[in-house]
Amino acid sequence: MAYLTALTSTLALLATSVRAAPAPSRFSFYTLPTPESGPCDMVEGHDGMLYIQNFLVDTLVRLDPSTGVTTEYQIPYNNPPAATSVLPGLGNRTALACAIRPGDDGLIYAASGVRNEIVQLDPATGMVKVFAQPANDPLGDLQPFNDMWPGPTGMFFSQTTGNVISLFNYDSHTFQNYPVPTPLSGPLGMRLASDGALWFTEFIAQKIGRLNYTSGSITEYPIPTLDLSLLGPAVLRVEEDPYLYFTGFVGDGIGRIDIHSGEIDSFPYTVPAAFPAEDTQDPKGNVWFSTATQNTIQYLTPSTGKFTTIPLPDTVVAEPGLLPNAQIGITYGPGNAIWFAELSMNRIGRYALS
Ligand SMILES: *[C@@H]1O[C@H](CO)[C@@H](O)[C@H](O)[C@H]1NC(C)=O
Ligand SMILES: *[C@@H]1O[C@H](CO)[C@@H](O)[C@H](O)[C@H]1NC(C)=O
Repeated sequence: MAYLTALTSTLALLATSVRAAPAPSRFSFYTLPTPESGPCDMVEGHDGMLYIQNFLVDTLVRLDPSTGVTTEYQIPYNNPPAATSVLPGLGNRTALACAIRPGDDGLIYAASGVRNEIVQLDPATGMVKVFAQPANDPLGDLQPFNDMWPGPTGMFFSQTTGNVISLFNYDSHTFQNYPVPTPLSGPLGMRLASDGALWFTEFIAQKIGRLNYTSGSITEYPIPTLDLSLLGPAVLRVEEDPYLYFTGFVGDGIGRIDIHSGEIDSFPYTVPAAFPAEDTQDPKGNVWFSTATQNTIQYLTPSTGKFTTIPLPDTVVAEPGLLPNAQIGITYGPGNAIWFAELSMNRIGRYALS
């Protein structure tokens, strides 16, 4: 009897330990080669590699998703950070830059935060070049965040404090500037939509803009003033016909604009003070977004209006102000995965989708 009892409890113990074996995690993490690099924006290049722009050091990094191997590229900036920058004391250390996109010409482009230049990386040679406007706009981009999006002839980017959308021509290396009609509008995030126009957010003016870059005309759509969840419209990178989705950074929501009617509506996020930063889209049409203060990744399912929040595996407490990973960058791909950048943890995370 005693023997049987012992056997039974051993079996029970075995069963428990089998049950307790952790499921293989969908998460993997990659630490950047330079300490305190501050990985910020990321994108998949046309070569299937992940390209990362760092916020705290002047480098770009390529991450090979199949091996996890990283390659680092120094950026030889020309302009010092603007003397009038709202972020003093940078010296020549860094541009506080956070925008990287692949050009239609196969090269990788990055914005340069407070230096107001365009960075170009040739993935085949590793060569990095920096281009500045002949007459540098002293207002330019005096705070770090701006954005870019590839067009057929060149790379669009925003100069938030200069109040212009600029287009850098891939071949001639010249710049064309499109002033935004509303003064001090704070143009920030952008995307070329299926209607052939460049749509962008106006972070300060609380509007969504539509640039016809052949005629130069800009149409602006005010965000309903009562929609507090869309305060500080920031990154606009998701299109799901007929909508473009953008983050409401200050107001804590996801907004969308119908590109045919110009109507704007919102999905207020259920976690307060999360600060939704960037958005990206998976093949099922979910709108994933990063939050600057939460140790989570999350997405909106537009068809149901439901938010799904996924805690990071080493998260002890996911609350604002407590160990925030300062996530800005989030992007779908390489592979069927969501990649996210943890600025203060100096690492890139990958979350495998099914
Ligand atoms: C910063 O960079 C500018 C432009 O390259 C250069 O003229 C200047 O001497 C540098 N300053 C320091 C402190 O390195
Ligand atoms: C831009 O404006 C031109 C001239 O009005 C027009 O022919 C063209 O269709 C417009 N393009 C877009 C994308 O709206």
